Amino acid sequence: MAAEKNGGTCVCPGSYDPITFGHLDIISRAARVFENVIVGVVNLPVRKQKTVFDAEERVGFIQEQVTEYPNVQVKPFDTLLVDFAREHGAKAIVKGLRAISDFEYEFEMNQLNRKMAPDIESIYLMAAPQFSFLSSSGVKELAMFGGDISGLVPDRVAARLQEELQR
Ligand code: PNS
Repeated sequence: MAAEKNGGTCVCPGSYDPITFGHLDIISRAARVFENVIVGVVNLPVRKQKTVFDAEERVGFIQEQVTEYPNVQVKPFDTLLVDFAREHGAKAIVKGLRAISDFEYEFEMNQLNRKMAPDIESIYLMAAPQFSFLSSSGVKELAMFGGDISGLVPDRVAARLQEELQR
């Protein structure tokens, strides 16, 4: 029996600099539960140094990977996350949680977002075990030193990372 979606829209936010297979796992799982998924790509993340890829390229990398999900759209944003979610009528923010180390940061973000928008629920999906070690920053570090990043990010992303970062 096909699983029924709960209806409604959720936002899967992030810097996605760049998208990894871990992010794509969370997005595809959200797409099975919600009627519409908006992948929100932060244009200029506040707590991070300059991104390797500009927002347009980060959005493009994701769009190429979600063509099989008609209910997933990818959009850049440069406002508060809750304002972006409201603008798209989202009732939930969906994020992935890997290890305990993610918890503290996400707990803080959760409290901030909840204070501003108690009507928008944050929902956390546990990372699949094969992705629980995977992060954009880890992939960038490997790429910088010529490590093998195939199987961690889409091929075109891997090629672009190598172009941008390999020393
Ligand atoms: O860890 P990431 O991928 O850089 O997370 C980005 C995001 C937007 C999900 C996170 O910073 C967050 O939850 N922010 C909430 C506060 C907010 O709206 N900040 C403005 C956009 S950076």
